[in-house]
Amino acid sequence: MVHMAARYPDVGVIGCEPFINGVAMLLGKIRAAGVENVSVHAGDARDMMDVLPAASIDKAFLNYPDPWPKARHHRRRFVTPEHLIPLARVLKPGAEFRVASDIPDYIRQTLEEVPPAGFTLIREGGEPWEDWISTRYEQKALREGRVPHYVTFRRNDA
Ligand SMILES: C[S@@+](CC[C@H](N)C(=O)[O-])C[C@H]1O[C@@H](n2cnc3c(N)ncnc32)[C@H](O)[C@@H]1O
Repeated sequence: MVHMAARYPDVGVIGCEPFINGVAMLLGKIRAAGVENVSVHAGDARDMMDVLPAASIDKAFLNYPDPWPKARHHRRRFVTPEHLIPLARVLKPGAEFRVASDIPDYIRQTLEEVPPAGFTLIREGGEPWEDWISTRYEQKALREGRVPHYVTFRRNDA
């Protein structure tokens, strides 16, 4: 997130993180990088989607969401209508939604559940976006032999 904020200084970036240790680490990185276009919500991303105006966001990033590997927990994943419908509401028509994951079953569920929430699949595969920087979690996944997968959707017109 800090990398994207530094790369696009004229764009406002909002990050959400419910765990205070993660927020503390992020604040250190924001200060070290000297970026001033980042806002942090120290809470659930869902809260943010509930308060943002409709069609107000140009891009959304779901970078290595918690995998919830057990089948009985799949409904807790972000890529379920409970999160995707509020996300679709706050995105502008034509907005991009990017998902990165190293869990094949997470990608399966993403490809299945995102389009019916109002999105069109644009691209998927092992090639990252041109402005992607590998995340901490991705580095761990690579060390452990898992393969990153990148998916891009576009928000449909109303
Ligand atoms: C697997 S980690 C990936 C972290 C980072 N994106 C990376 O790639 O290194 C998942 C992150 O999502 C955060 N998270 C989980 N549920 C969330 C929610 N409801 N809203 C916002 N962040 C959440 C976790 O606290 C954790 O920091």
